[in-house]
Amino acid sequence: MRAPAPAKGEASYVGAEQCAACHADEAEHWAKTRHADAYKTLVDVNKQFDLSCVGCHVTGFRAPGGSEVVENAALQNIQCEQCHGPGSLHVAVPEKRGKANAIRTDAPVELCQQCHSPEHSDTFDYAAYLRDVLGPTHGPERRAALGEGPTGRELRAAGLAAAGGGCKKM
Ligand code: HEC
Ligand code: HEC
Ligand code: HEC
Ligand code: HEC
Repeated sequence: MRAPAPAKGEASYVGAEQCAACHADEAEHWAKTRHADAYKTLVDVNKQFDLSCVGCHVTGFRAPGGSEVVENAALQNIQCEQCHGPGSLHVAVPEKRGKANAIRTDAPVELCQQCHSPEHSDTFDYAAYLRDVLGPTHGPERRAALGEGPTGRELRAAGLAAAGGGCKKM
């Protein structure tokens, strides 16, 4: 099974390696976030082929030009295109906001909540979690606008500690 093909003229997903070729600094920051290891988290508990897990631990799951349970080689983990949208057109002709091949930059809270649901991320807080996603080499202006405050990593660690660790029987 493969994800459906994109409609004619629409972008498909290309994978973070291609983005990193031009956005090395952003990619370096991303590689240090939990999003970059989300697939390994499933592999560690042998759940990478479990339909009730994989959709939120890969990029572009079942989206046009995206990933499937097995056919996801370049799209494992939560990559750039999960937030910025499929990038094939932007990669072919890179442009910035306002132009035809610009890529999405807004990443609103609803996007996060597709995966950061109450069942799977009960410590989720948009501003706090964005503090980890962004940094000095990834959206520094937006990061500065968030100011000081708790990070997603801190909220999650405190939540898991209070619950006595993650669910062992998942
Ligand atoms: C061949 C080089 C190249 C590749 C590959 C590339 N980009 Fe870009 N990207 C650019 C250029 C050039 C700009 C415009 C920068 C500017 O003018 O400030 C840009 C801008 C952006 C912006 C800012 C958009 C804005 O409107 O400010 C984002 C976000 C972005 N790219 C994400 C990605 C992602 C995600 C990928 C992988 C799917 C990717 N890029 C692949 C060259 C590239
Ligand atoms: C609705 C989307 C979704 C589904 C389905 C999902 N996960 Fe996750 N998972 C997440 C998110 C989001 C996080 C990050 C939680 C946080 O940091 O707030 C996460 C984190 C984890 C973690 C790290 C520990 C933790 O709780 O922070 C493990 C382990 C995990 N998931 C395993 C699984 C397994 C196994 C399945 C299938 C039974 C699964 N996930 C299904 C979204 C999902
Ligand atoms: C979890 C969501 C998320 C992921 C994953 C993500 N980004 Fe971003 N990115 C954002 C947000 C939010 C911004 C800030 C946009 C703004 O200025 O409001 C941003 C900004 C950017 C910018 C513009 C930087 C600037 O300062 O104007 C580039 C380029 C970019 N990201 C590239 C990437 C690349 C390349 C990857 C993967 C290696 C990636 N992003 C992964 C959410 C994400
Ligand atoms: C496609 C699903 C998906 C989307 C969309 C998504 N995430 Fe995540 N996120 C995850 C998963 C899965 C994890 C857990 C990774 C792991 O630990 O293996 C996670 C972990 C995180 C963590 C790490 C928390 C910790 O425990 O340190 C932060 C921060 C985070 N996400 C922020 C965001 C923000 C902000 C957005 C929206 C801009 C977003 N995420 C969108 C799936 C997603």
